[in-house]
Amino acid sequence: SKAAKGKGQKFDFIVVSNRLPVDRVQAEDGADQWRRSPGGLVTALAPIMAKSEGAWVGWHGAAGERLDAFDHGGMQLIPVELDAEEVELYYEGFANATLWPLYHDVIAPPEFHRTWWEAYRTVNRRFAAAAAEAAAPGGTVWVQDYQLQLVPKYLRELRPDLRIGFFNHIPFPPLEIYAQLPWRRTILEGLLGADLIGFQRGNDASNFLRCVRRFVNATVRQNQVQIDDRTARAEAFPISIDMAQISALANKPEVQQRAAQIRRDLGNPKTILLGVDRLDYTKGIQHRLKAFGELLADGRLTVEDATLIQVASPSRERVESYRLLREDVEGAVGRINGTHDTIQNTAVRYLHHSYPLEEMVALYLAADVMLVTALRDGMNLVAKEYVATRSDNTGALVLSEFTGAADQLRQAILINPHDIDGLKDSIMAAINLSPAEAGRRMRLMRRQILDHDVERWSQEFLDKLESGR
Ligand code: G6P
Repeated sequence: SKAAKGKGQKFDFIVVSNRLPVDRVQAEDGADQWRRSPGGLVTALAPIMAKSEGAWVGWHGAAGERLDAFDHGGMQLIPVELDAEEVELYYEGFANATLWPLYHDVIAPPEFHRTWWEAYRTVNRRFAAAAAEAAAPGGTVWVQDYQLQLVPKYLRELRPDLRIGFFNHIPFPPLEIYAQLPWRRTILEGLLGADLIGFQRGNDASNFLRCVRRFVNATVRQNQVQIDDRTARAEAFPISIDMAQISALANKPEVQQRAAQIRRDLGNPKTILLGVDRLDYTKGIQHRLKAFGELLADGRLTVEDATLIQVASPSRERVESYRLLREDVEGAVGRINGTHDTIQNTAVRYLHHSYPLEEMVALYLAADVMLVTALRDGMNLVAKEYVATRSDNTGALVLSEFTGAADQLRQAILINPHDIDGLKDSIMAAINLSPAEAGRRMRLMRRQILDHDVERWSQEFLDKLESGR
């Protein structure tokens, strides 16, 4: 009923996430336009949205701006407004300076402020109200990620008729760390408002269930939680990528030519190493730089042998620990390059930018060795994207054990990023991997991702969610 669209329209399927899956861009005439953001989640869900009457509820990324709902690529987008203070207290504060570090093994110290918590509750209520308003009777609502953990409970209070799912994209911490959170019980109860709570790894689901057993008045049997006469289930659904989209890009002649050009422009080093991350302290960028810098200092590598391209996309730049990280990383890059660069060759080509997916795929194709050294990461889709581009089965993936991806990509060269000597040896092993061994590993990893792409991920979650009706 396209004609019925507009205020008051109800939707059978609603996704709720902190950010809407679009970025604002300027058209040539200066007018605002929206472009779908890169990322597997929207790629997986857009077809489901187009088939059913689907809507996406989220923040559009600007402070203090009210926008009406609008249609984009077959989905209805419903913007949620955040004022400047809420961006500071809820988004930069509670989401990204309390929960993010707490859930990532307290790599940075989490801050606990009651004003941040108040804003988190207020904003979560607003997201829940927007979903409640837009959902058709008996519809399905799928809430995404740590910014919105209270939404399932608030939404159920408003709309007990709905089927509610929640997926946590980041790790769920061990009880001993989670216990620090002053509002630990309320958050767990918020999540338990969902019928199905999805996590990346089996360990995240069991951490969650242990916390529920300890802090909530509910009965836990295996993966089921009995609470207020209902059952909530917790289970792992490892997220993935759109393999078809990435391999199609990798097969484009222009993209392959761009990859060859990148190699020439770098002065034709024997080996190109690549790191691609949001500039985040969870990603282990400093550990990676330390290992690479020491390999150059030890003479095990020279800048003619090897260049490291480090793409660090700007992220959460107003949060203190992200500012400190940037100083630290840029200092380290400067020291390594100052010591080892020649006029012709560079040790580290550091790029504080984000790039379109095509350019990322060209970089993956140019890279002989991909370095994923995260200290903690819910999944890490960069690792899967790299593998997806390697249709000739060349290349080596060095992958941290502390990522969700390590549960699936068992043939990667698995490393502990805290063990710098081990990391150095593994980087050398990756550089010197025989083509036969590299091919064997890459084939198996490609098979894994081919069989488990993001469409299967969303299908399995939604099937499980509906099966409990
Ligand atoms: C992680 C989180 C997402 C978040 C993204 C970018 O992947 O799991 O929820 O959207 O980082 O961070 P940002 O703060 O810019 O939304």
